[in-house]
Amino acid sequence: MYIYRSSKTGLNQVVKSLSVDLKFLGITVVSLHPGWVKTDMGGPNAPVTIDKSIEGMVNIIDTTDIKSTGKFLNYDGTELPW
Ligand SMILES: NC(=O)c1ccc[n+]([C@@H]2O[C@H](COP(=O)([O-])OP(=O)(O)OC[C@H]3O[C@@H](n4cnc5c(N)ncnc54)[C@H](OP(=O)(O)O)[C@@H]3O)[C@@H](O)[C@H]2O)c1
Repeated sequence: MYIYRSSKTGLNQVVKSLSVDLKFLGITVVSLHPGWVKTDMGGPNAPVTIDKSIEGMVNIIDTTDIKSTGKFLNYDGTELPW
């Protein structure tokens, strides 16, 4: 999983950099963690359904604003420190 984890860390860094560069335009940029989701990748033991994960992420997209720019957010809206 080293390459997978590195790619996610790289993605977070891109999002953080974009959030800094686009803030003056009023554009909000965040990373979203879908949760551990019952998909092909997440497997049958994952606790979060696809509907619940998507509902949470859509809610964040609908409600988040410039105050949250650059943050890494869980599907339930809580901030993930990294
Ligand atoms: N599930 C989780 O618990 C979880 C947790 C954290 C983050 N994530 C992230 O959420 C995202 C979606 O994951 P998922 O759980 O929905 O995974 P998934 O059910 O395994 O689906 C992965 C999707 O990516 C497509 N894909 C894979 N390799 C590709 C390639 N080389 N080119 C184009 N498409 C490709 C697959 O296409 P095909 O159907 O055609 O194969 C499939 O539609 C991923 O970025 C994953 O890292 C998931």
